[in-house]
Amino acid sequence: MAEKKRPLIIDCDPGIDDAECILMLQGCGQFDILGITPVHGNVSLDKTSANALYLNEKYGINAKVVKGADKAIIVRHPRAEYAHGDTGLAGLKVKTEDLTFSEGYAWDFIWEKAKEYEGELEIAAVGPLTNIALAVLKHPEITKMVKRLVIMGGSTTFGNVTEYAEFNIHQDPHAAKIVFEAGFDLTMVGLDCCVNTYLDEKDKKDVVEAAQGTSVCDVIEDFDRFEDESIDNWPITEDKKAYYRSHKVMCDAVAAAVCIDPGIAVLSDKHVIVDVDGKMTIGQTVVDWFGFSGAPNLHLAMSVDRERFVNMYLECIRSYKEGE
Ligand code: BDR
Ligand code: CA
Repeated sequence: MAEKKRPLIIDCDPGIDDAECILMLQGCGQFDILGITPVHGNVSLDKTSANALYLNEKYGINAKVVKGADKAIIVRHPRAEYAHGDTGLAGLKVKTEDLTFSEGYAWDFIWEKAKEYEGELEIAAVGPLTNIALAVLKHPEITKMVKRLVIMGGSTTFGNVTEYAEFNIHQDPHAAKIVFEAGFDLTMVGLDCCVNTYLDEKDKKDVVEAAQGTSVCDVIEDFDRFEDESIDNWPITEDKKAYYRSHKVMCDAVAAAVCIDPGIAVLSDKHVIVDVDGKMTIGQTVVDWFGFSGAPNLHLAMSVDRERFVNMYLECIRSYKEGE
């Protein structure tokens, strides 16, 4: 008998690695993807929403696409066109004239599905946490009605937009604080963990090869080409640029892998605090390693099995073979 699919909502800001994350969550075949809820982030909401609509169609998902927040609750921090292109998807201008958004707002949609699926709903949140925080503020009982929330965000060490802060948390630190303190069954897949779960040169070639003859071949090739070129624009030193050219980091896809199979990660229960008012450290996720803060509030991914991740990604790509 076919196994029952796990109900899932993907909250995201596509974004190249968001697109790779969605590709995995659909390609693995385990999920009934009920909705995609775009949020502001890598680019503006109108662009992340158009990209979500396009990817929903492109990957044959058939989910509802329900728009979310167009800005953070309080702060206004720069977006990430330098890494994802002007449109958010490697410069790809998506055509969405024939596609439609579902009515309503992301936070109400998520709440409705949490109720409807009676504690079985899972959420993968791989953008700023504004939509999820608004769901908590408006429907506080939601935290007990969601089975698992897996986020890509934060870091236990370095940041990628400031010395201390990771992009998704830095975009809306106040939202992140609300979500971290709300009482979800929360898994944090942070930047440092994702950076160590890279694709090397051979893996990158294997990905392009695996994509041949699939319905996602064009997007995979576009992303590959764009990323190699766009690294020139990253605000980092030349030696780091050289490193990232041969080590492809795809943060949101790593979170997807943890969502698919938590056994791929080493998880440790910790209390993590989001700094919302530090002058240098706003958006930092501060891990209480010593145990000052009482009970843990999340499962922290300490590492992810890189080889298993790469194989999982390749398998997911192959699932898009045309005619199969
Ligand atoms: C995160 O920031 C975004 O640019 C990516 O899509 C990912 O979600 C990595 O810090
Ligand atoms: Ca993202």
